[in-house]
Amino acid sequence: MQRGHAICGLLRKSPLSTFAGGERVRLGAIAAERKPRGNLLPRSDSASSRECSIDPSQFYLCTRGKHTMAEYCKILDVPLAESDPVLLELIRKEKSRQVHGLEMIASENFTSLSVLECLSSCLHNKYSEGYPGQRYYGGNQFIDEVENLARKRALETFKLNPEEWGVNVQPYSGSPANFAVYTAICEPHGRIMGLDLPDGGHLTHGFFTATKKISATSIFFESMPYKVDPTSGLIDYDQLEANAKLFKPRVIIAGVSCYSRCLDYARFRKIADANGSYLFADMAHIAGLVAAGIVPSPFEYADIVSTTTHKTLRGPRAGVIFFRKGVRSVKPNGEKIMYDLESRINQAVFPGLQGGPHNNTIAGIATAMLQAQQPEFIEYQKQVVKNAQRLCEGLISKGYKVATGGTDIHLVLVDLTSTGEISAISGPKLPDFKNVISTNADVIAKIKSLRQEVEAFSENFPLPGYPTH
Ligand SMILES: Cc1ncc(COP(=O)(O)O)c(C=O)c1O
Repeated sequence: MQRGHAICGLLRKSPLSTFAGGERVRLGAIAAERKPRGNLLPRSDSASSRECSIDPSQFYLCTRGKHTMAEYCKILDVPLAESDPVLLELIRKEKSRQVHGLEMIASENFTSLSVLECLSSCLHNKYSEGYPGQRYYGGNQFIDEVENLARKRALETFKLNPEEWGVNVQPYSGSPANFAVYTAICEPHGRIMGLDLPDGGHLTHGFFTATKKISATSIFFESMPYKVDPTSGLIDYDQLEANAKLFKPRVIIAGVSCYSRCLDYARFRKIADANGSYLFADMAHIAGLVAAGIVPSPFEYADIVSTTTHKTLRGPRAGVIFFRKGVRSVKPNGEKIMYDLESRINQAVFPGLQGGPHNNTIAGIATAMLQAQQPEFIEYQKQVVKNAQRLCEGLISKGYKVATGGTDIHLVLVDLTSTGEISAISGPKLPDFKNVISTNADVIAKIKSLRQEVEAFSENFPLPGYPTH
């Protein structure tokens, strides 16, 4: 079974299936599973190739030794510029857009050269279903070390005691991480409560509308949103408390995508405790700020914390789940109730929802977590918040309405329906707005001049990564 699996994998993953196929190659693949790679590499000495029953001219797995890759398969050794200039041109255009534009999307960031190097490393090639020390495939000794390093650094970054917290670094991104959390702790149609999406929550916090269950988290689980107070723009904790008392959710989600104030985790905890709910904090947006210690940390109160690693944390595009270990509660008779989140969450991620982890990304997480522990990172996060607050002041001074009157974090929520030179002409609807910016000569000229100003400003700042891609 295992060998068959490996054969399948090799035929699927290597160029053999594309270029060669046939019995000779399959025999080679069996040998690949059973013998050390070294025996299989095409060498000029014919003994090893005889041993593997492979025609060396058709065997493309070599990346070392005295032969170059191009001798075996040119297509594997050709840079993108040569092999696919059409695609490279698109990447370059995007690079140029990023260099010249002023990117102000709160969920985006520019990751570091080190992370980009991890992403395009050989770790990408390896299948490693399972967890360190418990893999389905052989050859995972270094992959295990990479994943363990990522786990260790993730805990260190948020100053967590490994006796009290564990972490899963395999989720492909934030949405699958959140789905894994519900899968782990909610039965099908179990009840969840998150901030409504129009109020600043995320899709994966159970979003649905009057006519459609939009997020799978509202299809497979029963979701009841909580809201912000329409006047203050702040989360209405009293309403959440009252509704939670009725709804008795299994999980209360404390997390935001578009809310500019720090969350009151202590209040969330109190509401969760009153209803026997898990408190799940999704700190995707603010993880960098939490790592730097400049906003309240959810770890003091939550049972589970998920995050993406590519927003303020500035790492690769991925998700991570932290879960509590040890004693969950003590009964009046002194009996201890232990957390069982580690096995539930690990099993929900794999094999529940995912297959092989993205090892190149996990390496990116490891190095991003190391960066997030540096004093420079703390300064960077402080500056991000200062910039956002300065932006608020500037916008308010120009007459814009900023929700909640300011920000505690990296994002600013501006009401563009009431103010703005173009909306004053177009009215609040997007199609009318688009029409004005594409037809009104005066507006077109102003946008052009603004674009030039923004591009000249943005070009002053370097972009991490390689200059060409
Ligand atoms: C709070 C929150 N959670 C989860 C996600 C989902 O992350 P991803 O886009 O990586 O699936 C986001 C994305 O913006 C988010 O803001």
